[in-house]
Amino acid sequence: MIDQFKLLISDDCDQATIKQLKQLAISYGFAVVNSLDELNDNDSKLAIFTLNKNHLCLNLMLDDRRHHLTFDFIEGELAFRTKRVSKSNESIAKAIGCKPNFRPKVLDATAGMGRDALIMATLGCQVLMQERNLAVFLLLEDALNRFRLVDSQMSELMSLGFNDSNKVMINEPIDVIYLDPMFPQRKKSALVKKEMRLFKLLVGDDPDADNLLTQSINYFKKQNLAGRVVVKRPVSAPHLNEMKPNHQIRSKNHRYDIYLVIS
Ligand SMILES: C[S@@+](CC[C@H](N)C(=O)[O-])C[C@H]1O[C@@H](n2cnc3c(N)ncnc32)[C@H](O)[C@@H]1O
Repeated sequence: MIDQFKLLISDDCDQATIKQLKQLAISYGFAVVNSLDELNDNDSKLAIFTLNKNHLCLNLMLDDRRHHLTFDFIEGELAFRTKRVSKSNESIAKAIGCKPNFRPKVLDATAGMGRDALIMATLGCQVLMQERNLAVFLLLEDALNRFRLVDSQMSELMSLGFNDSNKVMINEPIDVIYLDPMFPQRKKSALVKKEMRLFKLLVGDDPDADNLLTQSINYFKKQNLAGRVVVKRPVSAPHLNEMKPNHQIRSKNHRYDIYLVIS
């Protein structure tokens, strides 16, 4: 897991970029550097934020090379997928309980790159995201801000908080808590997409994931609400907290374990 961050403000940055980066440095106490040379393979815990063409990027070392990580909802594979999203072709729709005249309000308690959240919002659900990793939160907030400029209707369905869901659950009524914690990677690294390897390098594992399931179930019980907790897992992964779900939905690469809480 990477836990040191700096900001690059190089000589060729324009005034708007400098202002935005300085604001980030002040808000989060990041040190400022003037060149990416500070990033070398001895600094496996350090990553450097830059702004490239209005996209916040995180520069980090992988396999002795520099790479950058940025999140985006407007272009690329994910945006393409959203164009074809429908209740019938997304197993997540069934998992979270979308019905012809009902779209659940979802707390995505492990927001990550916001991909699942975007799919749920595209299905018409209101999605409240929580992310506890600072760098992931900032990259996601940046993607969401850019998205707001081009699709206000969709982005209105999505909100984001910088919280640890193990400590803070939501205060307002919701129908579904969606969990997708990190899972130890078992495939050979060459087979895993570079973006996923960079993400894994940044976040590490989520060793406290079992607790999230208990917390989520308790949220509904304490509020005396009926609801469901949906856990996304790799197909052959054990159940979170060794708890058998009420239902399972399997797709090609994933499994959704569904826990129903009756008030
Ligand atoms: C596998 S990723 C989620 C991917 C996400 N579903 C997507 O579609 O992009 C897991 C994310 O959950 C975050 N996370 C894990 N436990 C958390 C917690 N207790 N509170 C908030 N975020 C958490 C991690 O920091 C990581 O960014």
